[in-house]
Amino acid sequence: MSIDVSKYSNFTVLDHPLLQHKITMLRDIHTGTNQFRTLVSEIATLMGYEAFRDLPTEDIEVETPIETCQSPVIAGRKMAIVPILRAGLGMVDGILTLSPTAKVGHIGLYRDPVTHEPHEYYCKLPRPIEQRLIVLLDPMLATGGSAVDALNLIKQHGGKNIKFMCIIAAPEGVARVCEAHPDVKVYAGHLDRELNENKYICPGLGDAGDRIFGTK
Ligand code: PRP
Ligand code: URA
Repeated sequence: MSIDVSKYSNFTVLDHPLLQHKITMLRDIHTGTNQFRTLVSEIATLMGYEAFRDLPTEDIEVETPIETCQSPVIAGRKMAIVPILRAGLGMVDGILTLSPTAKVGHIGLYRDPVTHEPHEYYCKLPRPIEQRLIVLLDPMLATGGSAVDALNLIKQHGGKNIKFMCIIAAPEGVARVCEAHPDVKVYAGHLDRELNENKYICPGLGDAGDRIFGTK
């Protein structure tokens, strides 16, 4: 039975044409490591531009060469960017382009090749994290196990205001994350068809970590 993700109000597909174009290039088996890395970073910037539309602003006074006026700046909460290792690392620079003063935490998870369950091997988050907007990054949302575990860890450390950005999502992963964490805003660049028997996203782009780091 197909999964209807339209019922999850915390899930958004960012369907800007520039984003879709770059995701198509990312999928291509002929795209090499160097170009793949560049694309992942550019896609993260484009996604961040859309996903940060709701950032609060406040007016400050600014003196222009002509006169003094009130003009908006980003208000309040500072940001913490948290990539899921390894593949999430590829998205960090793209988000730092938008928010250069953000702190960066890291969560290390790997998927067991047989059970496909995530295993934690590292967690270091900026402190205190309670007042920050936390942006969790991972290009791939497959079964959703890694994202759910990462979000659990962030909340255990006190994180409250969280966005999760993935480039490609499978319906199974969207359902798992949105049901476990309905308070987290989840953004995807594309919603793909399904998972295969090895829990890879179809059509997907293969193994994101291997393609970013040139391993296999
Ligand atoms: C990939 C990907 C996600 C996870 C998604 O990482 O980057 O973290 O799989 O799968 P899930 O939604 O089924 O949990 P992987 O475990 O292959 O580690 P890597 O980034 O180090 O290659
Ligand atoms: N992890 C990946 O890198 N790709 C997939 O398709 C699924 C999990």
